[in-house]
Amino acid sequence: MKTFRLAIVPGDGIGVDVTREAVKVLDALPPGTARFEKVFFPWSADHYLATGESLPKGAFDDLSAHYDAIFMGAFGDPRVPDMAHARDILLGARFVLDLYVNYRPVRCLAERLNPLKNVPASAIDFVIFRENTEGSYAGSGGNFKKGTPDEVALQEDISTRKGVERIVRHAFEHAKARGKTKVCMSDKSNAMRFVGDLWQRTFHEVAAEFPGITPSHLYVDAFVMQMVKDPGQFEVVVTNNMFGDITTDLGAALQGGLGMAASGNIHPGRVSMFEPVHGSAPKYAGTGRANPFGAILTAALMIEHLGLAEPARAVESAVVGCLEARECTADVGGTLTTEQAGDAVANRIART
Ligand code: NAD
Ligand code: IPM
Ligand code: MN
Repeated sequence: MKTFRLAIVPGDGIGVDVTREAVKVLDALPPGTARFEKVFFPWSADHYLATGESLPKGAFDDLSAHYDAIFMGAFGDPRVPDMAHARDILLGARFVLDLYVNYRPVRCLAERLNPLKNVPASAIDFVIFRENTEGSYAGSGGNFKKGTPDEVALQEDISTRKGVERIVRHAFEHAKARGKTKVCMSDKSNAMRFVGDLWQRTFHEVAAEFPGITPSHLYVDAFVMQMVKDPGQFEVVVTNNMFGDITTDLGAALQGGLGMAASGNIHPGRVSMFEPVHGSAPKYAGTGRANPFGAILTAALMIEHLGLAEPARAVESAVVGCLEARECTADVGGTLTTEQAGDAVANRIART
């Protein structure tokens, strides 16, 4: 039986609550599935405030050399208003490990969770690939005359040919491997000329390598409208870092809310990191109100990525079963606490 070494970083707020349940569900998989060797890391706002350190030097080298995957909860704490630790840990993982694919499936698992009129839940089933290592997240910029009336702040939006090409190619490869026939690229090339031109040219050049797949384009403002009006038209969408961030919160709303949305931060062939789309929701921390399903579905993405396709599907089916039986938290129509909802998924897995 294969052993996988998992680095688990619960983080802050409800990140801690939902990670506990995701780990519980992994532990509930049938004994023959795989062995998960879990190592927990304390990196969080508490740790940062107590030690002055977000994470130790060389931490990412250690993660990439000695682990098969990383699971993170969420980061963000009102006591660290500049998010310094979250930038170091979360964006650090994405940038230092070069996790250029942010894979964010948008799938509505129960009709009850579907917020759209005249569109069935089954029509909400596509994936967004968010470029994850550049754009306006690259940290390029600065300011001068700070604190004066003449203050200037710059935040540059950086796209590189290599960066755009690899995420676009990944989207097409994903579509091809899953028998999908459509890839839509979304940008704002009518206003952002320079990066827009690079994305447009690259998209069309890569699309030409995939004759079985129809490429299309939507400006991001039109894309968000179409996500709500007619989500069934989408199979695979690729976009930049910032637009991917924004559109996937809307994607979460199409799945029943932020508590339902899962994501993977991936560099094919290298150690990758998995986290729910939601943040640390500080006001829910420790209250039992956080929905653990996004984190549990994230664990499913992680084990699927590790080659455990069948157990990943078992986790998803257990979540669907719980939703149907209303064994879930209040945000998705149940009455259970975070812990009880995690137990419900784990029990279903144990029963199957
Ligand atoms: P958030 O996702 O933490 O919460 C927004 C709202 O969504 C919550 O008030 C709640 O109503 C709902 N929600 C989110 N997760 C839920 C869950 N699991 N179950 C039920 N409801 C849930 O976003 P925010 O309030 O904008 O940010 C809070 C902090 O988290 C900030 O510091 C922010 O920067 C950070 N953040 C971190 C990540 C991450 O670590 N990946 C992602 C987004 C935001
Ligand atoms: C996300 C989050 C992060 C992002 C924040 C916490 C920096 O919103 O993972 O979606 O913007 O990427
Ligand atoms: Mn976000």
